[in-house]
Amino acid sequence: MLQLPKVIGHRGAAAYAPENTLESFREARYRGATWVEIDVKLTADGVPIVMHDPSLERTMGVDRLVAETRAADLPKAVPTFEAAIDCFRELGLGCNVEIKPCEGREAETARVAVETLRRRWPAALPAPLLSSFKDASLRAARDAAPEFARAVLIDALEDDWGKRAAAVAAVGVNTNGKKLTALRAVEIRKAGYLLSVYTINDGDVAKALAGMGVQCVITDAPDVIVAALI
Ligand code: G3P
Ligand code: MG
Repeated sequence: MLQLPKVIGHRGAAAYAPENTLESFREARYRGATWVEIDVKLTADGVPIVMHDPSLERTMGVDRLVAETRAADLPKAVPTFEAAIDCFRELGLGCNVEIKPCEGREAETARVAVETLRRRWPAALPAPLLSSFKDASLRAARDAAPEFARAVLIDALEDDWGKRAAAVAAVGVNTNGKKLTALRAVEIRKAGYLLSVYTINDGDVAKALAGMGVQCVITDAPDVIVAALI
């Protein structure tokens, strides 16, 4: 059974270091996180890397699409998924691996991500949690590697959330904490799912969400939320 922590550092500790970098993962650990959330997508040559946006522009200042860039041509600060996993091994960090495919690569990205996890995820670390906004990615992950626990990632929950979660045999629901209602939280917990929220950086808001039954808070500022919840 998946053991989720109460706090997960979003893209590492995005409030304090450049998001989705090794520096950010170290910062998250330093600030009390025991897990981090990262976004995984594929380069032009099919290498899984840690990057949120389809383009390198916002975070790296390079006006180029990830899907059109070979791994060898990436800026040095962009970690491969393998380098990120090695960093987690060194730091003792667990991970929520968000599969964040470039358009049209939903299944392929999931398959490469789980193949990498099978090969490289350290047995000494807690088992990872996969999540994605793309149900096609979660389906592909389930088919290729059912052993990795999955969570549906849904920004604003609709009445079909249970159907979507069941369709990919998810164990969890990850949702936008600012849009979650108490009624919906109760419904999800009663149905037996783990409930996580993003991206909450205020301690009082985190406490209120925990009071609604939220088990895990994904945050840019792990020190703030650890101080509030732990
Ligand atoms: O996985 C939680 C959160 O990261 C989802 O949204 O856009 O920050 O990847 P985003
Ligand atoms: Mg994410």
